[in-house]
Amino acid sequence: MNIFKSKDKNNKGKKAPEPKKKKGMNNSLGIDLGTLNTVIAKPSGDKFDLYQIPSVVAIKKEDPTAVLAVGEEAKLMLGRTPEDIVAVRPLKKGVIESKAQAKALLSKAIEIGTSNGETIGRVVIGIPGDASEVEKSAAEEITKKAGADFVLVISEGLSAAIGAGLPIAEPDGTMVIDIGAGSTDLVVISLGGITDIKTVRRGGDDIDNNIVDIVKKRFNVKIGIHAAETSKISVGMIHCSENLENQSIEVIGKSIDTHKPKKIIIDSMLIADAAEPIMKEVVEGLDEVLEKLTPELIAGVYNNTVAVGGSSRLRGLKERICDDLSIPITINDDPMTVVAKGAAIVAAEPRALEPEVRLKAMK
Ligand SMILES: Nc1ncnc2c1ncn2[C@@H]1O[C@H](COP(=O)(O)OP(=O)(O)OP(=O)(O)O)[C@@H](O)[C@H]1O
Ligand SMILES: [Mg+2]
Repeated sequence: MNIFKSKDKNNKGKKAPEPKKKKGMNNSLGIDLGTLNTVIAKPSGDKFDLYQIPSVVAIKKEDPTAVLAVGEEAKLMLGRTPEDIVAVRPLKKGVIESKAQAKALLSKAIEIGTSNGETIGRVVIGIPGDASEVEKSAAEEITKKAGADFVLVISEGLSAAIGAGLPIAEPDGTMVIDIGAGSTDLVVISLGGITDIKTVRRGGDDIDNNIVDIVKKRFNVKIGIHAAETSKISVGMIHCSENLENQSIEVIGKSIDTHKPKKIIIDSMLIADAAEPIMKEVVEGLDEVLEKLTPELIAGVYNNTVAVGGSSRLRGLKERICDDLSIPITINDDPMTVVAKGAAIVAAEPRALEPEVRLKAMK
């Protein structure tokens, strides 16, 4: 099913290198519209050109529909612009909050994916599996308005499974656990369609917020959300039975007592405490999914479960899921691009989803 090899070029919105022209391939894009990152995959020969932009737009405070900048540019405007300009995310917990802002983000994504001036015929976009019909139509309508002739909206989980090269067409089940910034999608797939799906509206953002809260309580020090995320990425861990190394990082915050800068040490155990409520909900969600599976599907899931999404990189995830649920999982090597890659595969070759399968995918 995975007809392309990843080129894994995460060149963050920079101009595309000359793509190899191949009939029917160049005018399609796969887009993963994430809470934190929007990833664009463009089939190029037998590989992909990959781009990533932050899902951020700069808007005027008094008119949130007036988008002044998108992606990196919007991020750079933060703190350097008059106070009436703010940077916001068009998606919250994986769901489009503002159509005008999401359209600006998608237009930018399409512009980046078509930097050679060619028109885009087909765009496949991955959205959370539990999105309502209204949310799906909104995503479709916005993508069309942003410049695509034909738009197909598919579940992120199915897209991730295709991008990760899982055997989705087999009758035995296969499962994807997509832990992103705002939400976690748990998807079981068999015979090319979604058999079971659950979305837990928790992800890496919630861990970051918990880190800020715990640091405040334990050290009486306020740290910024970016410092929290950076410490999570460098020393993060999840509680599990395995003896994982407790690492630490120095962070500078603001003392609540003295209002002066104060150095504190954040260690892996603190991050594991911050991640615990989120992990608990993810495990409970998985438990609910497993409860409904037939013995055949559970055997398939045992043999073929992959974790994707940026938060799947937390140390101990694999061990924790095996401890609590007896499922050996694989962490995908490139967890933040598989949804876009899967969408690009479907965009370039819609037969990747046969008609009846496609219908199921959109349910
Ligand atoms: N090495 C790492 N360890 C822990 N967390 C990480 C690591 N790298 C990235 N993350 C986290 O992954 C999250 C971003 O992942 P991803 O790009 O998959 O999310 P998204 O697709 O934008 O969000 P969603 O799917 O919820 O809409 C962030 O919370 C980020 O802090
Ligand atoms: Mg995602």
